[in-house]
Amino acid sequence: MLTKLQAKVFFLGGTAVFFGIFLVLSFDTHLKVPNQTNAANITPAVAAGKRIWEENNCMGCHTLFGEGAYYAPELTKTVETRGKDWLKIFIKDPAAMFPGQRKMVKYNFTDEQIDNVIAFLDWCGKVDLNGFPAKPPLRDKMIAAAPQMAVSSGPPPLKKPVPAVFTTATCIGCHQIQGQGGAAGALIGAPPLDDVFRRYDRAKLVAWIKDPPSIKKDTKMPKLYGLAVNDAQLNEIVDYLLSLNPETAATPSAAPTAAPAPAVQPK
Ligand code: HEC
Ligand code: HEC
Repeated sequence: MLTKLQAKVFFLGGTAVFFGIFLVLSFDTHLKVPNQTNAANITPAVAAGKRIWEENNCMGCHTLFGEGAYYAPELTKTVETRGKDWLKIFIKDPAAMFPGQRKMVKYNFTDEQIDNVIAFLDWCGKVDLNGFPAKPPLRDKMIAAAPQMAVSSGPPPLKKPVPAVFTTATCIGCHQIQGQGGAAGALIGAPPLDDVFRRYDRAKLVAWIKDPPSIKKDTKMPKLYGLAVNDAQLNEIVDYLLSLNPETAATPSAAPTAAPAPAVQPK
């Protein structure tokens, strides 16, 4: 047994040692913070974006760095996974990107405010969070399974149901297909895709979707390949677009000229 004095020394000594360790670790963490957060990259746009984030209570629905509410997606890596072009369109009119599905609030932000929000989210995505958030292990499998689900509970019966990949890959947010979607794209001149098989063969479609700006320099069509579209999805998209050709069904269109009465007319 310890004497009273020994117990006192043990208690005070132990407290001092562990308090010391605590101080050293705290100090060490604070030294690392500016590096891990890339503090030097906090531009005025990032700061303005953070203010918008707070004033609009985005955290009432979203988590960022894992903090916030669990109603809506975690946004730490959203710039990496979605891309800035996609986010710009999405924030301007969230419902247009996901016709007929659950909706995010439509804020009437100016273009500058949207850029600021994206700058802020971009900065967040580059903070070194020691591996957070972990990549969802099932994500790719789920996306692969998604086309088996009907794309929407929306109104008109379709001649040829639009596969879910047009929604997950965001195409339908900009392009009208079989009477669905297209709202966000109307503003920037995205044509309906029902008869694109008349203008593009397989090779041209693949090349275009893979990298639109390499084909048309100042196009407003974002490069979604690598962000929202992988190779399997690209194939599925192209197969579907070519399958809308009433003459050749699912095979690549060889002779796209001389069209009989178009099978599907937008509107
Ligand atoms: C009322 C709840 C709510 C609020 C408030 C809200 N959001 Fe959302 N947000 C959503 C929902 C729901 C989605 C998922 C949309 C979908 O999948 O159709 C979403 C999706 C998003 C996405 C796309 C994420 C992705 O990777 O798909 C971004 C970016 C986003 N919100 C940003 C914001 C910002 C910035 C604010 C604040 C200015 C905000 N949100 C406020 C509900 C909300
Ligand atoms: C942000 C809006 C937007 C999204 C999302 C989008 N596009 Fe586009 N797309 C456009 C615009 C705008 C054009 C017209 C391009 C131009 O002429 O500069 C276009 C053109 C095209 C064309 C050529 C059409 C023609 O008749 O000339 C094809 C094919 C196409 N997009 C396919 C897709 C596919 C497939 C997806 C999904 C992976 C997609 N787009 C997503 C905006 C978008």
